[in-house]
Amino acid sequence: MTNLPGIPRWQTAVQSFKMVKDPIPYLNHFLKEKGPTVQLYLGGLYKMILTADPDFIQHILQKNNKVYRKSEVHFDKIQYFLGKGLLTSEGPYWLKQRRLIQPGFHKKRLQDILALMNKVVDDFLNQLDRQIQSNPEVDFYEKMLEATFRIIANSIFGKDLEAGELERLSTNITRLQAFIIRQIRQPYFNQWFKISGQVKAHTALKEDADGILRMYIEERRNDKGAHSDLLQMLMEARYEDTGEGMSDEQLIDECKILFLAGHDTSSNALAWTWYLLSQHPTILQKVREEVSLEIGEEAISFEKIMKLEYTQQVLEESMRLYPPAWTTNRVAAADDEFKGIKIKKGTTFATYIYGVHHSPDLWEDPESFRPERFSKEEKKKHHPFAFIPFGGGPRLCIGNNFALMEMKLILARMVGRYDFDLVENQDIKALPLITLRPENGIRIMLRRR
Ligand code: HEM
Repeated sequence: MTNLPGIPRWQTAVQSFKMVKDPIPYLNHFLKEKGPTVQLYLGGLYKMILTADPDFIQHILQKNNKVYRKSEVHFDKIQYFLGKGLLTSEGPYWLKQRRLIQPGFHKKRLQDILALMNKVVDDFLNQLDRQIQSNPEVDFYEKMLEATFRIIANSIFGKDLEAGELERLSTNITRLQAFIIRQIRQPYFNQWFKISGQVKAHTALKEDADGILRMYIEERRNDKGAHSDLLQMLMEARYEDTGEGMSDEQLIDECKILFLAGHDTSSNALAWTWYLLSQHPTILQKVREEVSLEIGEEAISFEKIMKLEYTQQVLEESMRLYPPAWTTNRVAAADDEFKGIKIKKGTTFATYIYGVHHSPDLWEDPESFRPERFSKEEKKKHHPFAFIPFGGGPRLCIGNNFALMEMKLILARMVGRYDFDLVENQDIKALPLITLRPENGIRIMLRRR
């Protein structure tokens, strides 16, 4: 198809177990051997181009984005269980939804949402204080997941969900996500999943989650009070052409997608950041100094959040080393060409974010943790696609500013309150599923300062 370096099919087939077990070192090995763009057969089966070349990724995601679509192989499974929302739609429907939803993430809305976030964090920290009195060892991966799930739930509904419902929603979405990954990674079991009743069992989980969301949507339709949360924004938004709003089914789908996209990513980024800070006391100290200078421990205003420049650099450097969305994919919808490489319609791409972020061609000493790389002056020197934790082009993450605000808030409110020591002899390992998560958690001994 092209004049690209390739990995022979037999080699990827023989080594497919390595790819399933530990994909990152496996893919990095190819890039090191062959250069930033290679052709390979995923699992010996699916032909694809893996690229960590920022020019090529910019071409696909931004400059020539009209030619590329998200891979539909996954869409039917994700849509069946988690709905057709922004993240999982394409073409004119996606564009219509993006235009409708984008204003909900503008600065003014985020300012209102910050008040909701502060309340969740108050409550979360009080609970954490009680918990560490009896057991100071905390798995930060789990804790951050809990915090970010409550934050997204509050940002959507403007209040805490009933405890039982929050728990059910969180468990159902996590289990559906895990089931979708199994269906995608082991397509040969799909018939078995049906026969063994697993599809039916997961459909029941989906219906349960939809039922909870439907109830809150109905409640809001009958509530004439003023609200400034994401649900209100979704319900008030009107399509330009018809002047109509979204149906309940569309609202349920968009809410599910916001839950899904809006908590697993931020929680992973936060968990990795705590890990890195626990290993770099001088950097932790600098974050503490910035926070105590700019704010204190109490609720934080939007203006003050914006002043936390070093804290943001720490988060950015953490997402460079551990990008929560470690890869994305696209398919060419028409023939195309990039720097003399002929691309046939139907070619699948893995735009390998982890590879770009760790490239020695783009980053000096790429494995070391140096937040200063993201200072204003240094940032200007980066290739525009050398740092892409939120993707790029028109499908750039809609929640990027929401996520940065939420993560800065959590860091700022915790650094001064606690001392953190990583529990010794842990096997800290990155597990790349849809997001890059710490496989065995990140256990930290926590003490009030
Ligand atoms: C650290 C946190 C986050 C990271 C690293 C992240 C990463 C990403 C990436 C890489 C994409 C693009 C995927 C692609 O092009 O294939 C994306 C899309 C998206 N993200 Fe995020 N995300 C984060 C937080 C959030 C939050 C908090 C929300 C919602 C509140 C959110 C909602 C979405 C949505 C709806 C899309 C689809 C946008 C579209 O296609 O128009 N994300 N995210």
